[in-house]
Amino acid sequence: MVKPPLIPIARPEHDEGEAEAVRHVLATDWWTQGPEVERFEKEFAAFVCAPYACAVSSGTTALHLALLVAGVMPGDEVITVSHSFIATANAIRYCQAIPVFVDITPATFNIDPNLIEKVITSRTRAIVCVHQMGMPCDLAALITIAQRHGLVLIEDAACAAGSEILQKGQWEKIGRPHGDLACFSFHPRKVLSTGDGGMITTANSGWDDRLRRLRHHGMNVPAHFRHRAAKVICEGYGELGYNYRLTDIQAAIGRVQLGKLPDMVLRRRDLAVRYRHLLAGQRLITLPFEPEWARSNWQSFAVRLAPEVDQLTLMQILLDNGIATRRGIMNAHRERAYSCGTWSCGKACINCLENTCVRLKQSEDAQDQTILLPLFPSLASEEQDQVVRALNEILVSPPLLWK
Ligand SMILES: Cc1ncc(COP(=O)(O)O)c(C=O)c1O
Repeated sequence: MVKPPLIPIARPEHDEGEAEAVRHVLATDWWTQGPEVERFEKEFAAFVCAPYACAVSSGTTALHLALLVAGVMPGDEVITVSHSFIATANAIRYCQAIPVFVDITPATFNIDPNLIEKVITSRTRAIVCVHQMGMPCDLAALITIAQRHGLVLIEDAACAAGSEILQKGQWEKIGRPHGDLACFSFHPRKVLSTGDGGMITTANSGWDDRLRRLRHHGMNVPAHFRHRAAKVICEGYGELGYNYRLTDIQAAIGRVQLGKLPDMVLRRRDLAVRYRHLLAGQRLITLPFEPEWARSNWQSFAVRLAPEVDQLTLMQILLDNGIATRRGIMNAHRERAYSCGTWSCGKACINCLENTCVRLKQSEDAQDQTILLPLFPSLASEEQDQVVRALNEILVSPPLLWK
């Protein structure tokens, strides 16, 4: 029997525009950290209305450099969520700092601002909030807390290109930035993709200068400046830096994708509305919540399952029917890489800080009770209908699923 083609969880979109842009770069002699990167940075900054945008090799390296320029030092504490892709917490550990996890607000899957002040200590340096799956965090509350305690606010906007937030009556793009720095990812699971890639936006020109040096081994003269100079220039390396460069090939793809981003986000929003409409009567599913001050780009469409539905069984049957899903967002504290071996309750529920045993109940429930449905611009109505039909059919045949 021929299996029907899989409906994937995501499908990176491209056409002749991206292909032509890549061919154009290949025909020049600038393949990395050159003029296309510069153009991409300017256009991205203009799109989100940020004073500065610095391109890097990934969302993870964007977070690492943002934390470094924010002054995060070994032993500092950084408040964030466990409920995120592990890169968020990993970047904090790359600085030899301690991620201090707080729980999420279940409706939005984002950091619960009410829990932050309880864990601030004299060692706290920064807050990393995550606009999870493209849904903006409660930035107004986070900015107030950060300012009150003199903390740097870093937005993990990996998933949030094109998402918007209402600020003083105006819709503004995530990345302006509203905190001190915002970090984007251009991985193919994201709304705008360059294969791999990342961007850091900030209003701080000093930080922007340092980001540019750090991404290129700390070199104090930009490569293109040296190569174009009529006189011999000898560069210097004032501090330890990294190879976190974006290539011009990636940047060229990014520029074309950026041009398409508004339409891609509109299409995603239409599909999200359509899921809401089609799944409205399904009592075993709770649809995602969007606060009135937020406009998601719907990087992912997460639905919460009723307690009696077995998440993994449902996902497997959907997969057997040619439909890929993902379980709810992971929790770093449940992974071995984050275990300190001092759990007092015997469960994978640690917050390594000072051996305190903290249960991140909302984060764990979100991972265990949520599934992400396929949503991407080229998802055809028939494919979306197929997802909904399969879900409804499986959910009326209880025996397999009831826990
Ligand atoms: C919330 C979040 N932060 C950071 C990252 C890391 O981005 P990258 O894969 O580009 O390094 C991701 C990627 O999945 C993410 O979802």
